[in-house]
Order: sequence, then structure tokens, then C-alpha cells
Amino acid sequence: MSNTVVVGAQWGDEGKAKITDLLAKNSDLIIRYQGGCNAGHTVVADNKTYKFHLIPSGILYEGKVCFIGAGTVIHPETFEREVNELIEQGIDVKNLKISPLASITMPYHIEVDGYSEDTATKGKIGTTKKGIGPTYTDKAARMGLKIEDLYSPEALSEKLDVILPLKNKTLEKVYGLQPYTKECITALCEKYAQIFKPYVCFDWQELLHSSKKGKNILFEGAQGVMLDVDYGTYPFVTSSNPIGGGACTGSGYGPTMIDEVIGVSKAYVTRVGEGPFVTELKDETGDKIRNIGHEFGTTTGRPRRTGWFDAVIAKYGVLVGGLTSMALTKIDVFDSFDEIKVCVAYKDTRDGKIYNTYPTNVYMHKYLEPVYETHKGWKTDISGIRKYEDLPENCKKYLARLEEIFEIPISIVSVGPDREQTIFKN
Ligand code: GDP
Ligand code: IMO
Ligand code: MG
Repeated sequence: MSNTVVVGAQWGDEGKAKITDLLAKNSDLIIRYQGGCNAGHTVVADNKTYKFHLIPSGILYEGKVCFIGAGTVIHPETFEREVNELIEQGIDVKNLKISPLASITMPYHIEVDGYSEDTATKGKIGTTKKGIGPTYTDKAARMGLKIEDLYSPEALSEKLDVILPLKNKTLEKVYGLQPYTKECITALCEKYAQIFKPYVCFDWQELLHSSKKGKNILFEGAQGVMLDVDYGTYPFVTSSNPIGGGACTGSGYGPTMIDEVIGVSKAYVTRVGEGPFVTELKDETGDKIRNIGHEFGTTTGRPRRTGWFDAVIAKYGVLVGGLTSMALTKIDVFDSFDEIKVCVAYKDTRDGKIYNTYPTNVYMHKYLEPVYETHKGWKTDISGIRKYEDLPENCKKYLARLEEIFEIPISIVSVGPDREQTIFKN
């Protein structure tokens, strides 16, 4: 038995879904532990491309139980659409389960997210506008609706009597948005109850209990360490905990259940939305990385910002992510590069101070510039290589340097989007 968490080690889109898919093969239970449909996860297998937002990619394997945990926020219509798309592609969803404790993203959450983003003149976050922040806000404020409420009309009615007056006041007075009647929300909830009905796992305690012994559990994170609400580039973050620790609160299992935490890093860095990004390349090299790496958002289609690998955030990610090994993806994107840079420290342009560890106050990041070391490229197509020994020498040197920086082993090297384009190291 081995229980593993997959954590994004950068600002998301590191290729977590590809790694989750690989590990799901040998797992019995796959649990998505946080986030919502802000995530966009792509798996390429058997010449087909599958896109996920909420559903664990483990669903592609027959017989695996896929559980969407209590730490997630679920938009009912997006969930329904995703399930239907999978069914249309011939994927069996009978083993898909949702925690009754997961939070529901309501229409007003999306309206508030959109309003906040569209009207911000300063401090725009660049969210996915999927209502994620407002849903988690209501959860923390004890004003949220959980999936279990949908099946208990009396409790729902009592809850709405408490929530709605304040919610409507806020919608109208703060945001200038339309209020909701209790009848309207009740009708929506009846619809949502039907959407979730085949999947709600009321005996989730039994599921977790029975999986405790002898089963391999895989915990699937969304986003990445640098978007973590506690440890990321706050406030330019998402509203949940993608770090390894989030797997516990989001799944219902305690830390004693976790054996390994695999971080996923790209060979460079990308970010979508606003916020500091010290190694960002706003030049031809950045465009080259974006074009070769197809760096456009799965969820919003936005071009991803691109930059050189940042060892400062990598070391930080290893620490706060609780990582035990790293999967390095998209290294093939550098196949045509003469030189590859790695940022090993930050320099404060005001006083020359060098930062080797991550400075958490992001408001001073505008004064930071990257300190680079340069590595020679390998100028070879590595996408067909399947053994570590067969990688070009310069590529192995680059990987060895990253491993030295991480101070944890690189366990997986990914050389292309396909399931097969993978090198298991050690
Ligand atoms: P996630 O959100 O972390 O799951 O990552 P995304 O799916 O949003 O983005 C990663 C993209 O890179 C997807 O389109 C993957 O198919 C693709 N991908 C994953 N690994 C590799 C790789 O090693 N090389 C290349 N070229 N593409 C990859
Ligand atoms: P996956 O799981 C990349 C970013 C948004 C924005 C910030 C807050 O595919 O790696 P939110 O809508 O969550 O309130 O937006 O977080 N963001 C992501 N960036 N990959 C993701 O998910 C992301 N999910 C949210 O762009 O900057
Ligand atoms: Mg993604």
C-alpha cells in the first residue's frame, strides 16, 4: 500500500493531470481534494485528449473509484457538462463519487467574481471568473451551501432564511446586482439535487474507512503551491490550499495516511492572471516558450505568461508543499534552445541584497531581478526517449542541477503530453 499526493509546485498548469493519470493506473481510489472548475487538466492517452475541471482524471481507468472531496467547490452545471462529455467519449462514470460536504458554487458567486474582476481598477487578481473565491468566502463565513443540504429540504429552508437576507443585501448594496428570492434558490437546489443524485456518496466514511487498509490512494491537487491561499503570492492566489497538507483537510484523511508527495514542475515557469513573476520573459524567448509549449489556458484560453525556471520558488515549493520527489514536465519544449537559464536567486535592485529563499511579501517583488545561471541546450528531439540513460548529456546535466537545487529526487521526467512520453527515473 502506498498513498501519494500530486501537488503543483509552481503557479498551476505544471502537467499535474498527466502525472495523476500515470499514477492512477496503480491506484484504487483517486481523490480530488481542493479547488473547483478553475482547474483545467489535460490528459493525452491513446491518441485522445481529455480535459477535466472537477473530475479526477483517474476516471479514464476502469474500476477506479474517483472521489471529489469535501475541500472542493462544485458548480453543478459545469459538473454535469463534464460528466456528459465523458459519457459521450465512452468513459464509464459509475465509480464517480462526490462528498456531501463539498461546497456548491451558486450563480451569485460567479456574478460577484465577475463583478469584482471587471470593476477592479487596482489590485485585479485575474481570476478565472468561475466563482471560486466567493464560494470559499461563503464557506469560511459559514454562509455556504453544501451538497448534503440539497437532500434535506427542511435544513435548506432554515439555512436560506439565514443566508439570503444578508446575501441579497450584499448583492444589491455592495455590488449593484439583482437579489434572489427563496423560491428561485429552492428551485435551483431541486435541479442541483437531481444533477448530483447518482454521485453523492453519503457513506463516504465507509468508503474512506474501507480504503484505509490495503488500497492505494492517490490525492489529486489542483492549482499549485504558489497559488496557495496561505503560502502563495497572496493576494494573487486562489482561495484554497493546493499544498500537500490540503490533501488531508480536503479528503477527510489525516496526515498519517500519506506516504509520498510528488511535486510537479515544468522545466520553465508559467502563470495565468495577475501577480508577481520574477523570471517572466516579455520578449521573443517568452513567446517561443509559449508557442512551443502551447501555453494557453485550458479553462479560459488566456495566453499563459512564461519565464525561465525559478529555483527560488522551487525550493520554497519543496518546503511548504511537503514534497518527497519531483516530476519534471515539458523538458522537450527546450529541444531547440541553444541556452537554458535557471534563476538561482533574486537580487533587490534597490540595495543589491540577494535573496536565496522566497521573500513572501509580494509588494516588493517589483524591485527584484533574477540572478541566472546558464546551461547549454541539447539541440536534439527527446520526445521519443523512454530511458533516462538515453537522454542527451546536456539534458542530464540540466536535470542533475535541478535535482541538486530541489534537494529531493526527480522521480519522473515527462518528454511530451502523451501518457507514453514518460521516463520513470529510479
Ligand atoms: P495541469 O493543470 O497541471 O494538469 O496542467 P494542464 O493540463 O493545464 O497543462 C499542461 C499541458 O501540457 C497539457 O496540455 C498537457 O497535455 C501538456 N503536457 C504535459 N506534460 C507535457 C510534456 O512533458 N511535454 C509537453 N510538450 N506537453 C506536456
Ligand atoms: P490548474 O489546476 C493556473 C489562477 C487564476 C488567478 C488565480 C485566482 O489547471 O493548475 P481563481 O479563479 O482560482 O479565483 O483565480 O489563480 N488559477 C490557475 N492558474 N492553473 C490553474 O489550475 C488555476 N486555477 C486558478 O488564473 O490568477
Ligand atoms: Mg491546468
